[in-house]
Amino acid sequence: MKPLTKPKNPCFSSGPCAKRPGWTLDVLKDAAVGRSHRSKIGKAKLAEAIKRSKKLLGMPEDYILGIVPASDTGAVEMAMWSMLGERGVDVFCWESFGSGWSGDCKNQLKLKDLRVFKADYGKIPDMRQADWTRDVVFTWNGTTSGVRVPNGDWIPAERQGLAICDATSAVFAMEVPWNKLDVVTWSWQKVLGGEAAHGMLALSPRAVKRLEGFSPDRPLPKIFQMSKGGKLAAGIFEGETINTPSMLCVEDALDGLKWAESLGGLPALVARSQANLKAIEDWVAQSNWAGFLAGDQAIRSSTSICLKITDPAYLALAAEDQAKHAKSVVSMLDKEGAAYDIGSYRDAPAGFRVWGGATVETSDVELLLPWLDWAYGEVKAAF
Ligand SMILES: Cc1ncc(COP(=O)(O)O)c(C=O)c1O
Repeated sequence: MKPLTKPKNPCFSSGPCAKRPGWTLDVLKDAAVGRSHRSKIGKAKLAEAIKRSKKLLGMPEDYILGIVPASDTGAVEMAMWSMLGERGVDVFCWESFGSGWSGDCKNQLKLKDLRVFKADYGKIPDMRQADWTRDVVFTWNGTTSGVRVPNGDWIPAERQGLAICDATSAVFAMEVPWNKLDVVTWSWQKVLGGEAAHGMLALSPRAVKRLEGFSPDRPLPKIFQMSKGGKLAAGIFEGETINTPSMLCVEDALDGLKWAESLGGLPALVARSQANLKAIEDWVAQSNWAGFLAGDQAIRSSTSICLKITDPAYLALAAEDQAKHAKSVVSMLDKEGAAYDIGSYRDAPAGFRVWGGATVETSDVELLLPWLDWAYGEVKAAF
């Protein structure tokens, strides 16, 4: 039966993600538009975004955090380009973005001493293979497969190499063990639903030491340069961005941070995301056609929740028919206004990806699930 009630907010995209409940354009009215980002007010807003983020995330005092160009990709690549090559590198990947970073290491940076540990969609490599005399690059949460590292137990607090972590779909929804990580990156448009443009780059004291003590033998674009003459460009980490940021995006990021604080901070954000995953887990447990891409609960993401179709009748179809039918479900729900953007990522196996980050209301996830049942039933009837 076709459900009667639609989710209040049908935005389930994995980035840009849903705006926080109650968001309106009005929250941007105090933005420092038309002002220089180097004016007193501009700098103060940028510094405030850094300060509030650090506090909310419980970053150690001696870690630094900067707003950088080009979203999460910008943050990850400026770290890789600036820091890698000083020693051997291990890259762990299990979906599209991690594979992209390993491709960077191999084809762009042409690192001579590189080991790549890869797992298929829905799985994770054995992270204990990391050799901590080397640098280690990985994502905390693989957004396109819905697989996350279960914890940081496999990272020693005492390590020689740097732990470089793309955590864009994890921070603000998952606990991140700061003392185990040297470089952590994210963007504004994910868990707090901010406007996209800028990346956030957090560095441990050891990462700063690398920046100050190592000059890679490669050209660095201006927007990647974080040190000069062996000294950290400290201003970047106080709000003096390398190039011009959008003050509208800054205002929106501040709104997201204030909203998060009003809920009770990080524990509340994590709980909201967990509740979203739980709603889908309860539904999957009784479903006769859907399952998780990440079979193992310990590595299952609570943000990018990836589903596959397990119905034997569907699995008996040719791969292109499977993809076609999964896409039909997605477009039916889009057309109905019940769910937007829930198709699996273009490189991932056919199925669905439902964002369950902190801005998504569990009541909306619960309302989405009968629509999935309905749409799959309709599509199956026409197999
Ligand atoms: C794990 C991961 N890394 C990198 C990116 C790229 O992020 P951006 O578009 O913010 O550069 C994404 C985007 O979804 C992602 O999920």
